[in-house]
Amino acid sequence: PLSADDFKVADLSLADFGRREIQMAQHEMPGLMALRDEYAGSAPLRGARITGSLHMTVQTAVLIETLVSLGADVRWASCNIFSTQDHAAAAIVVGPRGTPQQPCGIPVFAWKGETLEDYWWCTERALAWPDGGPDLIVDDGGDATLLVHRGVEYEKAGQVPPSSSATSKDEEVVLNLLRRSLAEDPNRWNTVVHGIRGVSEETTTGVLRLYEMHRTGQLLFPAINVNDSVTKSKFDNRYGCRHSLIDGIKRGTDVLIGGKTVVVCGYGDVGKGCAESLRGQGAKVTVTEADPICALQAAMDGYSVAPLEDMLPTADIVVTATGNKHVVHAEHMARMKHQAIVGNIGHFDNEIDMAGLEAYPGIERVPVKPQVDLWQFPDGHAVVVLSEGRLLNLGNATGHPSFVMSTSFANQVIAQIELFTRGHEYAIGVHRLAKQLDEKVARLHLEALGVRLTRLTPEQAAYIGVSVNGPYKPDHYRY
Ligand code: NAI
Repeated sequence: PLSADDFKVADLSLADFGRREIQMAQHEMPGLMALRDEYAGSAPLRGARITGSLHMTVQTAVLIETLVSLGADVRWASCNIFSTQDHAAAAIVVGPRGTPQQPCGIPVFAWKGETLEDYWWCTERALAWPDGGPDLIVDDGGDATLLVHRGVEYEKAGQVPPSSSATSKDEEVVLNLLRRSLAEDPNRWNTVVHGIRGVSEETTTGVLRLYEMHRTGQLLFPAINVNDSVTKSKFDNRYGCRHSLIDGIKRGTDVLIGGKTVVVCGYGDVGKGCAESLRGQGAKVTVTEADPICALQAAMDGYSVAPLEDMLPTADIVVTATGNKHVVHAEHMARMKHQAIVGNIGHFDNEIDMAGLEAYPGIERVPVKPQVDLWQFPDGHAVVVLSEGRLLNLGNATGHPSFVMSTSFANQVIAQIELFTRGHEYAIGVHRLAKQLDEKVARLHLEALGVRLTRLTPEQAAYIGVSVNGPYKPDHYRY
């Protein structure tokens, strides 16, 4: 059984509810279940200690139990203060054979509505194995990877920079945490990093951080970029957000989307899914873009494209999907209509400048319910901000549905097996899974949807220069 120090979640009595939803989700996650069957005899992750920092939802629960069924030991935290589903967290801690009185599942440190101090404490706990650190990290947004790297950096320097040097609240909390850690054990993070065989990263923003760390020579272990598997970003980012964006807006505000003027900032994979779902609801959608290719795509898809500034007087809903910072600032919100809804579906809360909004002269925050606030400007008008500027599909709703997460997480499982069993073949750097593995993930999801493939004849395969069994495209193909 787990001891009380081995986990921290909201309420273990929610475990039964969580278990029922996990069982229902399994049926909708054919990729993960097929991998469990495929590796039932061989347990390729036997002995692997895996730390996860990824939204602790029902779907993630199925991922965690898949990693365990492949032999891994797992510790988990969420990668967002609002995204945990408390019943899923409880079910994972209790485990299929435990009880709330005698939990014997997986150590989870996550609950919905953490403070930033809680959040980083949970991340640190998930990385704290009895005798060191993990072998592998499953990351979403890169916070677990960042904590390890900062820890190593400050241990090398022998000191942690003063909190006054922090440029964000997150950074301040991380500096404080690492200062305590350095005082307790000046070699902790060096020990941790030596055991790590690699990380598999879930999302665009985390992958961006990894490439940047590698470019500047800071990256300390190999990384697999799961996001850029085709069966991840062209599915989760797009079709997942097509489902969960409007779910979050509706649960948060119950506003009728049809007929409204809606702005989607960014027309990458996430923005494409968002715009499509809003149009499906009958909204008039305008896209903002910096990239001429994506702007042209938006135009060809029938959306108008304009700068946000032009849309401020008419927009009823503004959604950010860029992964960039300060896309919507306080001055923008100051010029919006009364009760315009502002939400972010990108990874971090600086995409809407929340710090700037809080500091706006005369502004008043009026909480409506958890994850929904009215921000009242001195002139009397207010905007509705969802999830305090953090990703609204996980804060105001329950994130992506199981089926699409099965495609993402099948990539995660394959990446973890790669790093654990063939990690030495991956140099420090950022790698993608081979095309065959990407195609394999897609294949695992076809039958459930009644998809029947056409089989190429050997002559046809030779004519287009592929093998009958794939891969069917060169690496540079863009789908
Ligand atoms: P992407 O790189 O495909 O698309 C982002 C687009 O935003 C690009 O086309 C870029 O040109 C545009 N952009 C950047 N700055 C802009 C600005 N100031 N104004 C207008 N457009 C701008 O990235 P992707 O995959 O669409 O991801 C976007 C964000 O969503 C990332 O932070 C990612 O981590 C996150 N994400 C969130 C999910 C969720 O469930 N909430 C799921 C998947 C990704």
